[in-house]
Amino acid sequence: MKSLEAIAVRVSTRTFDNRPLSQGEIEELKSLLDLAAASSGPFGHKIKLGLSLGSGEGKPARMGTYGLISGAQAFAAAAVAPGPGSMEDLGWILEGFVLGITALGWASCWIGGLFSRGAAAGVAGAAGGDLVPAVVALGRTAPRRSLADRIVGGAARARTRKPLKEIAFSMEAALPGPWLPVLEAVRIAPSASNKQPWRLVWHPETAVWTLFLDEDRAYNHALGAVRIQNIDLGIAMRHFALAASELGLPGAWREPETSFQTVLDFGSARGWKSAAFWK
Ligand SMILES: Cc1cc2nc3c(=O)[nH]c(=O)nc-3n(C[C@H](O)[C@H](O)[C@H](O)COP(=O)(O)O)c2cc1C
Repeated sequence: MKSLEAIAVRVSTRTFDNRPLSQGEIEELKSLLDLAAASSGPFGHKIKLGLSLGSGEGKPARMGTYGLISGAQAFAAAAVAPGPGSMEDLGWILEGFVLGITALGWASCWIGGLFSRGAAAGVAGAAGGDLVPAVVALGRTAPRRSLADRIVGGAARARTRKPLKEIAFSMEAALPGPWLPVLEAVRIAPSASNKQPWRLVWHPETAVWTLFLDEDRAYNHALGAVRIQNIDLGIAMRHFALAASELGLPGAWREPETSFQTVLDFGSARGWKSAAFWK
């Protein structure tokens, strides 16, 4: 399965079938997690990743998710040293892992809200001072979703997304045609509470995309030094880059520049923060 297909089929799964994993399945998860841990994000950070498995005897993996997740065979836990771009890089790297396992038929759910950060820190091998922003529940899908799953899925309006015109803009009238599938890959990305805080603005003369954060300030500052919506940005950046590369469109993410004042003004007039640009 290619990236665009994995992006299209990925959904948050909160009810797993609890079937014990084979050694081969465990090795598959571990090797993809090791690959992710060896990579770095566009802002240059690496993250620490660890895997917590169930007992293999009908006892699911545990991460203090209080009934939200049932029957998960494993959790991936992530830790990162704080610093500019660290949340984005965590989103980028962990979403790369999520899409990789999605392509192999695994189900998953990002969890940045309620989980045991102490347990996750241990699993990830976090050092003192590291942040433990999120875990990902992993496993095989159960045939029927649990009640908790249906309620949370409903509350976050799972799979409903803003129309493209609310997340992507052009300094000219129309969005550039070849980029529409890339924008769609961002539009269907997962985000915390499905808030979809990413905004993209196209500058036709220079063929540069600028990425902004339309932050929900209270929400994004509710978890101490963890900025959950900056993780969303990193996830969106990964979807964008994978889609562009698969479609043969050029460019890479770079740190924001100040030369496109019209674009920056467009964003700041709407209260957005510039995060990165693609050229
Ligand atoms: C950074 C991040 C944190 C999330 N935290 C939670 C969480 O704590 N609990 C939960 O049930 N879902 C969580 N989600 C899943 C989102 O609610 C879900 O991605 C969104 O509603 C879109 O649905 P979909 O993933 O099925 O497309 C999180 C997603 C992201 C990206």
